[in-house]
Amino acid sequence: MPYIDSILKEKRVFYPSHEFSRKSHIKNMAEYSKLYKKSIESPEKFWAEKANELEWFKKWETVLRNDMGFFKWFEGGRLNVSYNCLDRIVKSGKGSKTALIWEPESGEGKKYTYEQLLKEVCKFANVLKKLDVKKGNVVQIYLPMIPELPIAMLACARIGAIHSVVFAGFSSDALKDRIRDSNAELLITADGSFRNGKIFSLKKNVDIALKECPTIKNVIVVKRTDNNAYIANGRDAWWHELINKKEIKDICEPESMHSEDSLFILYTSGTTGKPKGILHTQAGYLLFVYLTFKWIFDIKENDSYFCTADIGWITGHSYIVYGPLSNGATVVMYEGSPTFPKPDRFWRIIEKHKVTIFYTAPTAIRALAKEGDEWPNKCNLSSLRLLGTVGEPINPEAWIWYHNVIGKNKCPIVDTWWQTETGGILISPLPGATPLKPGSATKPFFGILADVLREDGSKANPNEGGYLVIKNPWPGMLRTVWDDPQRYKNAYFEKFGVYLTGDSARMDEDGYFWIMGRIDDVIKVAGHRIGSAEVESSLVSHKDVAEAAVVPYPHEIKGQAIYAFVVLKKNAKKSGQLNDELKKHVAERVGPIAKPDKIQFADELPKTRSGKIMRRILKAIADGSKDYGNITTLTDPGVVEILAKNRLN
Ligand code: PRX
Repeated sequence: MPYIDSILKEKRVFYPSHEFSRKSHIKNMAEYSKLYKKSIESPEKFWAEKANELEWFKKWETVLRNDMGFFKWFEGGRLNVSYNCLDRIVKSGKGSKTALIWEPESGEGKKYTYEQLLKEVCKFANVLKKLDVKKGNVVQIYLPMIPELPIAMLACARIGAIHSVVFAGFSSDALKDRIRDSNAELLITADGSFRNGKIFSLKKNVDIALKECPTIKNVIVVKRTDNNAYIANGRDAWWHELINKKEIKDICEPESMHSEDSLFILYTSGTTGKPKGILHTQAGYLLFVYLTFKWIFDIKENDSYFCTADIGWITGHSYIVYGPLSNGATVVMYEGSPTFPKPDRFWRIIEKHKVTIFYTAPTAIRALAKEGDEWPNKCNLSSLRLLGTVGEPINPEAWIWYHNVIGKNKCPIVDTWWQTETGGILISPLPGATPLKPGSATKPFFGILADVLREDGSKANPNEGGYLVIKNPWPGMLRTVWDDPQRYKNAYFEKFGVYLTGDSARMDEDGYFWIMGRIDDVIKVAGHRIGSAEVESSLVSHKDVAEAAVVPYPHEIKGQAIYAFVVLKKNAKKSGQLNDELKKHVAERVGPIAKPDKIQFADELPKTRSGKIMRRILKAIADGSKDYGNITTLTDPGVVEILAKNRLN
């Protein structure tokens, strides 16, 4: 990584202002340490106490149970997640408070109060019921960043359906694979979406995908772009027509859900080609995102909170929808690109909606910093009081720019480390308490026992890199991999018997965690998680490709980008045209975010005698480090030199 060196050398420390600490939920490190100790010594007591802040239809009987490696939280309890995010807030007297501010890429936005959002959710829940969606059914959602997306999710939660959101930037193939895995019967989509002023025909992708998804019986289509989408007779119906029918009431009784009933599936990349359906359940997930949001974002009654993530990823699920709404917060969601129409779009939104808390990804910070300080400097950012980052390590240079230019040296930055699997944030500063070190996600949240282990399972020394693991269960953790419990066990618990994150990290002498990046075959491109196996299998699905291997290389803006080594079939000819075609092929098969930046044609790949491709060596070629390690086990060590000679700059 380009910035690992600067992360290793970073020594600066930034303290929260007295003013900020005084008003925050957790005010100093002594308070943090005391509560942390309690949460680790008696986790069940700690979490049970916090669970009382939610509204239960029936109290739980046991806080935590380990069922042969599958963890169950709050068994015996019953609640409803949408009720806790909407009705509970309305009942507390905040019905007229703004819940959601939608900022479209162009044109007029929309605002919903908690009361209005509740009504919309109830209406759509009734639409789903009319279409025979029942508790436990899977509803696939493929929507852009429009209000119908959180409404659809909350409506599913209200009636006990399991939502499975697919990022709208994914291709029809990726959508198809996810539907075929989840066996959803209903799909919610839009005719199109806007990005950078252009229209993307989402519905076209759906129509292609559905040719191979026999389980889908109904498709609900939001009219967003009005681009003459095809509406299949008997299968497809417009959202606005369904929801405006006379018989659709704006009241819908929330389903009483068991704590461990499924809430949602969200697919993410692992080390094999098949995406993993990460399953989250009701009570534990809700409690975890509720509490982490409350304390890490130090939420107050008058905050205006803007998270730039897409709801199609876990950050949007947990910290646009469930975390903020269960706290009765005001959330800004934005539909489009950070640079449309100009590179000041985020800063304009902050000014317009007087945003106090801003949460984004390091890749966006780097890209916007590159555009120049004049863009943020032209906007009034004085409402900001807290900043956050997520998705990949932040290099100290980008951190300092964020702190100075956006935060005007007065806003703490919460560098939040977590994953789709963890449900919510596990390692992060508490903004009023934790001294910040640029590039470090700092300390574990309450109830989280994080550690760094060596290959043999022993504890690494301070500052020694190793495997980042979590040694105890927490309420927001994944419960299983959809339809594949064995994969849950193998991927996460087989190596050390405790939760394996897939990241490498070091812990410094102050107990601060410094995340170094993925240790497995997952590549973080602009914060998006891409499995190298997914890209490789899409490359080899091209008629001219015999073999492919994909590795990350450092990229100034994206953090990491994809470098592919491709061996062509005998009769295919290496050409610039084919190179472009292969990139396009991956974009179409997986999605534009997975497109390799560089494709190097090779005659042979470095392999061990047993035929295993040595990705470690390819990585050292791609990043130019030449740190090949031992190459004597290769069938033909000469391959390395040839590949290095032809390396693309
Ligand atoms: O490598 C870590 C990186 O993102 C991975 C999880 O990706 P995903 O499941 O898509 O969830 C992203 C949003 C939570 C992690 O394994 N990552 C996430 N946050 C950070 C990070 N790396 C360094 N610092 C972070 N703050």
